[in-house]
Amino acid sequence: MNAEPSTGRTSASAEAGPAAGSGPGAAASGRPVFGPPVALVAGASSGIGAAVARRLAARGSAVALVGRREAELKEVAETIRAAGGTALPLALDLAEPGVPAEAVAATAAGLGPVGLLVCSAGAIRLAAIHETEERHWERQLRVNLTVPFLLAREVLPGMRERGRGWIVNIGSGVGSEVVPGSGGYGVSKHAVHRLTELVHEENRDLGIRAVTVAPGWVSTRLAARPADLGVSEAEVLDAEDIADTVAWLLDRPARMSVGPLVRVEPSASRAAAGDAMTRHLTRSRTKGTGPAAKETP
Ligand SMILES: NC(=O)c1ccc[n+]([C@@H]2O[C@H](COP(=O)([O-])OP(=O)(O)OC[C@H]3O[C@@H](n4cnc5c(N)ncnc54)[C@H](OP(=O)(O)O)[C@@H]3O)[C@@H](O)[C@H]2O)c1
Repeated sequence: MNAEPSTGRTSASAEAGPAAGSGPGAAASGRPVFGPPVALVAGASSGIGAAVARRLAARGSAVALVGRREAELKEVAETIRAAGGTALPLALDLAEPGVPAEAVAATAAGLGPVGLLVCSAGAIRLAAIHETEERHWERQLRVNLTVPFLLAREVLPGMRERGRGWIVNIGSGVGSEVVPGSGGYGVSKHAVHRLTELVHEENRDLGIRAVTVAPGWVSTRLAARPADLGVSEAEVLDAEDIADTVAWLLDRPARMSVGPLVRVEPSASRAAAGDAMTRHLTRSRTKGTGPAAKETP
Protein backbone atom coordinates (compact mmCIF):
# COMPACT_ATOMS: atom_id res chain seq x y z
CA MET A 1 0.00 0.00 0.00
CA ASN A 2 1.18 3.50 -0.72
CA ALA A 3 0.02 6.17 1.67
CA GLU A 4 1.96 9.32 0.97
CA PRO A 5 1.57 12.14 3.41
CA SER A 6 -0.73 14.73 1.96
CA THR A 7 0.56 18.07 0.82
CA GLY A 8 -1.01 21.31 -0.21
CA ARG A 9 -4.08 22.75 1.40
CA THR A 10 -5.10 20.52 4.29
CA SER A 11 -8.59 20.33 5.64
CA ALA A 12 -8.29 17.16 7.65
CA SER A 13 -10.83 18.17 10.21
CA ALA A 14 -13.19 19.92 7.83
CA GLU A 15 -15.98 17.62 6.91
CA ALA A 16 -19.54 17.97 5.99
CA GLY A 17 -22.34 16.37 4.18
CA PRO A 18 -25.79 17.68 3.70
CA ALA A 19 -26.70 19.37 6.94
CA ALA A 20 -29.68 17.80 8.66
CA GLY A 21 -32.62 20.00 7.70
CA SER A 22 -33.25 21.51 11.13
CA GLY A 23 -29.87 20.85 12.72
CA PRO A 24 -27.18 23.35 13.55
CA GLY A 25 -25.58 22.78 10.15
CA ALA A 26 -28.53 24.05 8.18
CA ALA A 27 -28.37 27.69 7.22
CA ALA A 28 -31.55 29.66 6.75
CA SER A 29 -31.13 29.12 3.02
CA GLY A 30 -31.25 25.39 3.57
CA ARG A 31 -27.69 25.10 2.27
CA PRO A 32 -25.00 23.24 4.20
CA VAL A 33 -22.74 25.48 6.26
CA PHE A 34 -20.01 22.98 7.12
CA GLY A 35 -16.70 22.92 5.27
CA PRO A 36 -16.03 20.52 2.43
CA PRO A 37 -16.07 16.88 3.57
CA VAL A 38 -13.06 14.60 3.55
CA ALA A 39 -13.66 12.35 0.56
CA LEU A 40 -12.68 8.79 -0.25
CA VAL A 41 -12.91 7.95 -3.94
CA ALA A 42 -12.72 4.24 -4.75
CA GLY A 43 -11.50 3.75 -8.32
CA ALA A 44 -9.70 7.10 -8.53
CA SER A 45 -6.80 6.02 -10.73
CA SER A 46 -8.60 6.69 -14.02
CA GLY A 47 -11.83 7.58 -15.79
CA ILE A 48 -14.84 8.72 -13.85
CA GLY A 49 -13.30 8.26 -10.40
CA ALA A 50 -10.25 10.35 -11.31
CA ALA A 51 -12.45 13.13 -12.72
CA VAL A 52 -14.69 13.11 -9.64
CA ALA A 53 -11.66 13.13 -7.32
CA ARG A 54 -10.16 16.14 -9.10
CA ARG A 55 -13.50 17.94 -8.92
CA LEU A 56 -13.98 17.23 -5.22
CA ALA A 57 -10.46 18.47 -4.49
CA ALA A 58 -11.15 21.64 -6.49
CA ARG A 59 -14.21 22.15 -4.29
CA GLY A 60 -12.00 22.01 -1.21
CA SER A 61 -12.26 18.39 -0.10
CA ALA A 62 -9.15 16.55 1.00
CA VAL A 63 -9.40 13.40 -1.12
CA ALA A 64 -8.15 9.85 -0.58
CA LEU A 65 -7.54 8.20 -3.95
CA VAL A 66 -7.97 4.43 -3.94
CA GLY A 67 -7.12 2.00 -6.72
CA ARG A 68 -4.57 -0.68 -7.53
CA ARG A 69 -2.36 1.21 -10.01
CA GLU A 70 0.05 3.21 -7.93
CA ALA A 71 1.62 5.24 -10.75
CA GLU A 72 -1.79 6.39 -12.03
CA LEU A 73 -2.92 7.30 -8.52
CA LYS A 74 0.21 9.36 -8.00
CA GLU A 75 -0.43 11.18 -11.26
CA VAL A 76 -3.96 12.08 -10.20
CA ALA A 77 -2.62 13.16 -6.80
CA GLU A 78 0.01 15.36 -8.45
CA THR A 79 -2.62 17.06 -10.60
CA ILE A 80 -4.68 17.77 -7.50
CA ARG A 81 -1.71 19.13 -5.57
CA ALA A 82 -0.55 21.24 -8.49
CA ALA A 83 -3.96 22.90 -8.37
CA GLY A 84 -3.56 23.56 -4.63
CA GLY A 85 -5.60 20.64 -3.36
CA THR A 86 -4.94 17.81 -0.94
CA ALA A 87 -4.69 14.20 -2.07
CA LEU A 88 -3.74 10.95 -0.39
CA PRO A 89 -3.07 8.11 -2.85
CA LEU A 90 -3.77 4.68 -1.42
CA ALA A 91 -2.70 1.84 -3.70
CA LEU A 92 -4.98 -0.96 -2.57
CA ASP A 93 -6.91 -3.84 -4.08
CA LEU A 94 -10.37 -3.27 -2.65
CA ALA A 95 -11.50 -6.76 -3.66
CA GLU A 96 -9.19 -8.31 -1.08
CA PRO A 97 -10.65 -9.21 2.33
CA GLY A 98 -10.32 -6.46 4.91
CA VAL A 99 -9.01 -3.88 2.43
CA PRO A 100 -12.12 -1.64 2.25
CA ALA A 101 -11.89 -1.19 6.04
CA GLU A 102 -8.15 -0.55 5.67
CA ALA A 103 -8.84 2.16 3.08
CA VAL A 104 -11.33 3.93 5.35
CA ALA A 105 -8.95 3.72 8.32
CA ALA A 106 -6.01 5.04 6.28
CA THR A 107 -8.16 7.95 5.07
CA ALA A 108 -9.24 8.78 8.61
CA ALA A 109 -5.63 8.62 9.82
CA GLY A 110 -4.28 10.76 6.98
CA LEU A 111 -7.06 13.25 6.33
CA GLY A 112 -9.86 12.85 8.87
CA PRO A 113 -13.10 10.87 9.04
CA VAL A 114 -14.75 10.19 5.69
CA GLY A 115 -17.66 12.54 5.08
CA LEU A 116 -18.11 11.73 1.41
CA LEU A 117 -17.69 8.30 -0.12
CA VAL A 118 -17.64 7.85 -3.88
CA CYS A 119 -17.56 4.28 -5.21
CA SER A 120 -16.40 4.29 -8.80
CA ALA A 121 -14.29 1.11 -8.77
CA GLY A 122 -15.64 -1.19 -11.43
CA ALA A 123 -14.98 -4.54 -13.08
CA ILE A 124 -16.65 -5.60 -16.30
CA ARG A 125 -16.74 -8.83 -18.28
CA LEU A 126 -19.68 -9.00 -20.61
CA ALA A 127 -21.20 -12.35 -21.54
CA ALA A 128 -24.54 -14.12 -21.75
CA ILE A 129 -25.44 -15.90 -18.52
CA HIS A 130 -24.83 -19.39 -19.99
CA GLU A 131 -21.35 -18.28 -21.07
CA THR A 132 -20.36 -16.54 -17.85
CA GLU A 133 -17.58 -18.11 -15.86
CA GLU A 134 -18.09 -18.28 -12.11
CA ARG A 135 -14.85 -16.41 -11.39
CA HIS A 136 -15.91 -13.52 -13.64
CA TRP A 137 -19.35 -13.44 -12.04
CA GLU A 138 -17.82 -13.35 -8.58
CA ARG A 139 -15.24 -10.72 -9.48
CA GLN A 140 -17.88 -8.32 -10.81
CA LEU A 141 -20.18 -8.88 -7.84
CA ARG A 142 -17.23 -8.36 -5.51
CA VAL A 143 -15.89 -5.13 -7.03
CA ASN A 144 -19.18 -3.57 -8.16
CA LEU A 145 -21.44 -4.51 -5.26
CA THR A 146 -19.66 -6.00 -2.24
CA VAL A 147 -16.96 -3.31 -2.17
CA PRO A 148 -19.53 -0.45 -2.11
CA PHE A 149 -21.42 -2.35 0.62
CA LEU A 150 -18.28 -2.84 2.72
CA LEU A 151 -17.17 0.77 2.29
CA ALA A 152 -20.65 2.07 3.16
CA ARG A 153 -20.82 -0.18 6.21
CA GLU A 154 -17.47 1.18 7.32
CA VAL A 155 -18.25 4.90 6.94
CA LEU A 156 -21.92 4.96 7.93
CA PRO A 157 -21.56 4.64 11.72
CA GLY A 158 -19.37 7.78 11.85
CA MET A 159 -21.66 9.68 9.49
CA ARG A 160 -24.71 8.69 11.55
CA GLU A 161 -22.98 9.83 14.72
CA ARG A 162 -21.99 13.17 13.20
CA GLY A 163 -25.38 13.64 11.54
CA ARG A 164 -24.05 14.27 8.06
CA GLY A 165 -22.50 12.48 5.13
CA TRP A 166 -22.73 11.61 1.47
CA ILE A 167 -22.46 8.28 -0.32
CA VAL A 168 -22.30 8.36 -4.10
CA ASN A 169 -22.21 5.06 -5.96
CA ILE A 170 -21.48 4.97 -9.68
CA GLY A 171 -24.05 2.59 -11.11
CA SER A 172 -24.85 2.10 -14.78
CA GLY A 173 -27.66 2.52 -17.26
CA VAL A 174 -27.56 -1.26 -17.78
CA GLY A 175 -28.38 -1.66 -14.08
CA SER A 176 -31.84 -0.36 -14.94
CA GLU A 177 -32.28 -1.88 -18.39
CA VAL A 178 -32.36 -5.57 -19.24
CA VAL A 179 -29.55 -5.82 -21.77
CA PRO A 180 -28.81 -9.37 -22.96
CA GLY A 181 -25.10 -10.04 -22.47
CA SER A 182 -24.68 -7.55 -19.65
CA GLY A 183 -24.27 -10.61 -17.39
CA GLY A 184 -22.74 -10.27 -13.96
CA TYR A 185 -21.99 -6.62 -14.69
CA GLY A 186 -25.66 -5.74 -15.22
CA VAL A 187 -26.71 -7.77 -12.19
CA SER A 188 -24.12 -6.12 -9.96
CA LYS A 189 -25.15 -2.64 -11.11
CA HIS A 190 -28.85 -3.42 -10.64
CA ALA A 191 -28.03 -4.55 -7.12
CA VAL A 192 -25.89 -1.53 -6.29
CA HIS A 193 -28.83 0.68 -7.25
CA ARG A 194 -30.88 -1.14 -4.60
CA LEU A 195 -28.02 -0.96 -2.09
CA THR A 196 -28.01 2.83 -2.48
CA GLU A 197 -31.79 3.01 -2.08
CA LEU A 198 -31.53 1.11 1.19
CA VAL A 199 -28.73 3.33 2.47
CA HIS A 200 -30.81 6.36 1.48
CA GLU A 201 -33.98 5.17 3.23
CA GLU A 202 -32.17 4.02 6.36
CA ASN A 203 -30.24 7.27 6.82
CA ARG A 204 -32.19 10.09 5.19
CA ASP A 205 -33.43 11.47 8.50
CA LEU A 206 -29.90 11.55 9.90
CA GLY A 207 -28.53 14.15 7.49
CA ILE A 208 -27.02 11.53 5.21
CA ARG A 209 -27.72 11.34 1.53
CA ALA A 210 -27.02 8.38 -0.72
CA VAL A 211 -27.34 8.54 -4.47
CA THR A 212 -26.45 6.35 -7.42
CA VAL A 213 -25.23 8.20 -10.46
CA ALA A 214 -25.90 5.75 -13.29
CA PRO A 215 -24.12 6.78 -16.47
CA GLY A 216 -24.70 5.56 -19.97
CA TRP A 217 -21.74 5.39 -22.30
CA VAL A 218 -18.76 7.37 -21.00
CA SER A 219 -15.51 7.56 -22.92
CA THR A 220 -13.08 5.70 -20.62
CA ARG A 221 -10.84 2.65 -20.88
CA LEU A 222 -13.66 0.51 -19.46
CA ALA A 223 -16.09 1.25 -22.29
CA ALA A 224 -16.18 0.41 -25.98
CA ARG A 225 -14.37 2.85 -28.25
CA PRO A 226 -16.93 5.07 -29.97
CA ALA A 227 -15.20 4.75 -33.38
CA ASP A 228 -15.58 0.95 -33.21
CA LEU A 229 -19.35 1.31 -33.12
CA GLY A 230 -19.72 4.12 -35.63
CA VAL A 231 -20.33 6.77 -33.01
CA SER A 232 -18.33 9.97 -32.75
CA GLU A 233 -16.41 10.75 -29.58
CA ALA A 234 -18.47 13.92 -29.22
CA GLU A 235 -21.68 11.89 -28.89
CA VAL A 236 -20.67 9.88 -25.84
CA LEU A 237 -20.30 11.26 -22.34
CA ASP A 238 -17.03 12.46 -20.90
CA ALA A 239 -15.85 11.62 -17.37
CA GLU A 240 -16.13 15.35 -16.61
CA ASP A 241 -19.89 15.13 -17.33
CA ILE A 242 -20.18 12.69 -14.45
CA ALA A 243 -18.00 14.86 -12.21
CA ASP A 244 -20.33 17.78 -13.08
CA THR A 245 -23.33 15.69 -12.06
CA VAL A 246 -21.79 14.71 -8.73
CA ALA A 247 -20.84 18.33 -8.00
CA TRP A 248 -24.36 19.47 -8.88
CA LEU A 249 -25.86 16.90 -6.52
CA LEU A 250 -23.57 17.98 -3.69
CA ASP A 251 -24.67 21.58 -4.19
CA ARG A 252 -28.36 20.92 -3.68
CA PRO A 253 -29.85 22.50 -0.56
CA ALA A 254 -30.17 20.26 2.48
CA ARG A 255 -33.97 20.23 2.17
CA MET A 256 -33.72 18.67 -1.28
CA SER A 257 -33.07 15.07 -2.18
CA VAL A 258 -32.41 14.08 -5.77
CA GLY A 259 -32.46 10.44 -6.67
CA PRO A 260 -31.58 8.06 -5.11
CA LEU A 261 -31.07 6.96 -8.75
CA VAL A 262 -29.84 9.60 -11.18
CA ARG A 263 -29.36 8.43 -14.76
CA VAL A 264 -27.07 10.35 -17.08
CA GLU A 265 -27.22 9.28 -20.73
CA PRO A 266 -25.83 10.57 -23.99
CA SER A 267 -28.50 12.51 -25.87
CA ALA A 268 -28.18 10.48 -29.07
CA SER A 269 -30.16 7.24 -28.98
CA ARG A 270 -27.44 5.36 -30.87
CA ALA A 271 -25.06 6.16 -28.02
CA ALA A 272 -27.54 4.99 -25.36
CA ALA A 273 -26.14 2.40 -22.94
CA GLY A 274 -28.27 -0.63 -23.82
CA ASP A 275 -28.11 -0.24 -27.61
CA ALA A 276 -24.41 0.42 -27.54
CA MET A 277 -23.68 -2.60 -25.36
CA THR A 278 -25.75 -4.85 -27.62
CA ARG A 279 -23.90 -3.61 -30.71
CA HIS A 280 -20.60 -4.02 -28.90
CA LEU A 281 -21.39 -7.64 -28.03
CA THR A 282 -22.60 -8.40 -31.55
CA ARG A 283 -19.42 -6.91 -33.00
CA SER A 284 -17.22 -8.96 -30.66
CA ARG A 285 -19.00 -12.16 -31.65
CA THR A 286 -18.74 -11.35 -35.34
CA LYS A 287 -15.04 -10.67 -34.95
CA GLY A 288 -14.69 -13.96 -33.09
CA THR A 289 -13.26 -12.42 -29.93
CA GLY A 290 -15.43 -14.70 -27.84
CA PRO A 291 -18.41 -14.31 -25.60
CA ALA A 292 -16.70 -12.07 -23.09
CA ALA A 293 -16.59 -8.96 -25.19
CA LYS A 294 -14.99 -6.57 -22.79
CA GLU A 295 -12.88 -6.95 -19.76
CA THR A 296 -10.95 -4.81 -17.40
CA PRO A 297 -8.68 -6.63 -14.96
N1 LIG B 1 -17.39 4.09 -18.97
C1 LIG B 1 -18.69 3.83 -19.06
O1 LIG B 1 -19.28 3.84 -20.15
C2 LIG B 1 -19.46 3.53 -17.82
C3 LIG B 1 -20.85 3.50 -17.92
C4 LIG B 1 -21.61 3.23 -16.79
C5 LIG B 1 -20.97 3.00 -15.58
N2 LIG B 1 -19.62 3.02 -15.51
C6 LIG B 1 -19.01 2.77 -14.20
O2 LIG B 1 -18.15 3.82 -13.88
C7 LIG B 1 -17.18 3.34 -12.93
C8 LIG B 1 -15.81 3.84 -13.34
O3 LIG B 1 -15.44 3.24 -14.56
P1 LIG B 1 -14.68 4.04 -15.71
O4 LIG B 1 -15.53 4.00 -16.90
O5 LIG B 1 -14.21 5.32 -15.17
O6 LIG B 1 -13.45 3.05 -16.01
P2 LIG B 1 -12.00 2.93 -15.39
O7 LIG B 1 -11.18 4.09 -15.79
O8 LIG B 1 -11.53 1.59 -15.77
O9 LIG B 1 -12.24 3.02 -13.83
C9 LIG B 1 -12.40 1.88 -13.03
C10 LIG B 1 -11.69 2.14 -11.73
O10 LIG B 1 -11.93 1.04 -10.86
C11 LIG B 1 -10.70 0.74 -10.21
N3 LIG B 1 -10.71 -0.64 -9.74
C12 LIG B 1 -11.09 -1.74 -10.41
N4 LIG B 1 -10.90 -2.84 -9.64
C13 LIG B 1 -10.41 -2.40 -8.45
C14 LIG B 1 -10.01 -3.04 -7.26
N5 LIG B 1 -10.08 -4.35 -7.13
N6 LIG B 1 -9.56 -2.29 -6.23
C15 LIG B 1 -9.46 -0.94 -6.35
N7 LIG B 1 -9.84 -0.27 -7.47
C16 LIG B 1 -10.31 -0.99 -8.50
C17 LIG B 1 -9.65 0.98 -11.28
O11 LIG B 1 -8.40 1.22 -10.71
P3 LIG B 1 -7.18 0.18 -10.75
O12 LIG B 1 -7.18 -0.52 -12.07
O13 LIG B 1 -6.00 1.08 -10.52
O14 LIG B 1 -7.40 -0.73 -9.60
C18 LIG B 1 -10.19 2.26 -11.90
O15 LIG B 1 -9.74 3.39 -11.17
C19 LIG B 1 -17.31 1.82 -12.90
O16 LIG B 1 -18.04 1.44 -11.75
C20 LIG B 1 -18.14 1.54 -14.14
O17 LIG B 1 -18.89 0.36 -14.00
C21 LIG B 1 -18.84 3.30 -16.60
